[in-house]
Amino acid sequence: MSVQEQLDELRDRAQGELDDAADLAAALAWEKAHLGPKGDVTLFLRGVGSLPTEDRPLAGRAGNALKIVLADLFEQRRATLAAHDLEQRLAADAIDVTLPGRPPSLGAEHPVSQMIDELSDIFALLGFQTVFGPEVETARYNFDLLNIPADHPARDVWDTIHVESPGELVLRTHTSPMQARVMETTQPPVRVVVPGRVYRYEAQDASHEWMFHQLEGLAVDRHITMADLKGTLTELARQLFGPSRRIRFRCDFFPFVEPGVDFAVDCALCNGKGCRVCKGTGWLEMGGAGMVHPRVLEGVGYDPARYSGFAFGLGIERLAMMRSGVDDVRAFAGNDLRFLRQFARAA
Ligand code: PHE
Repeated sequence: MSVQEQLDELRDRAQGELDDAADLAAALAWEKAHLGPKGDVTLFLRGVGSLPTEDRPLAGRAGNALKIVLADLFEQRRATLAAHDLEQRLAADAIDVTLPGRPPSLGAEHPVSQMIDELSDIFALLGFQTVFGPEVETARYNFDLLNIPADHPARDVWDTIHVESPGELVLRTHTSPMQARVMETTQPPVRVVVPGRVYRYEAQDASHEWMFHQLEGLAVDRHITMADLKGTLTELARQLFGPSRRIRFRCDFFPFVEPGVDFAVDCALCNGKGCRVCKGTGWLEMGGAGMVHPRVLEGVGYDPARYSGFAFGLGIERLAMMRSGVDDVRAFAGNDLRFLRQFARAA
């Protein structure tokens, strides 16, 4: 076989192999086999010196030309395969941005928190500011300034949970201590509502918990009368339970109001005729209220001859129970998600 034939054959074989190289790795192996230090083209050129003298010039020229042609073909093939390889990797790594994400679980507001928000909104419309107070309270605010002196039997009305301390500290038994705290730091006119937790040492049953929530209301100004109290609570009942609701006052005793009342709303379910929810009475008890006792006003430095006010306290769980037909107060703090999820609102 002549030198030229030998090189032609080598070129044909190399070209065919390169066309068959399916990926970059195969192309690189091809380069090594033909153009590498031990590749056949390299070996051929190295062997030129041992050819017969007359063959050497042609073999050298043609061998070098073949080397350049093959290097060129390799470079083209390598570029094609590299581009193809990149395309494939991009396709494999692609993130499908049209795939819907997994929605994070947002949780839901507790029904008591929802009721507090709703009450705050209603009272804001009536000109009342929402404020908060401490749950660990001194006996002075929880009792003394509310006209409930030490050793007075009225203290027994609230079965108190005491906190071990040098002074007398209690878990507040009601939100009423905030009456004095607010009045001590502001001058009339005062219009506040105070939602929050209160604590009582009581046996638990379907309508009693040792922790529950109250909302205190206080308005003090010139010429505040019982009519303002009744108007405010009537408006509250109508905002909560519908436009035709009525409010009932009955005499009751709380040391920090005079006169004192308990107040109820006529049952929206039966329109006051009597049903299962109102236990046949036609009325739903909401809380206690009255005109702020002159001694309470004096205690915070207000002149009872100049100022008068009303106060009320209502049970928030009770309201939530009436609204949603829950018949066991223990459900609210029972931490059962199946119960709580029923109150989830759309965000
Ligand atoms: N603090 C009273 C209670 O917890 C309720 C109340 C508040 C009564 C304000 C009258 C005025 O029972």
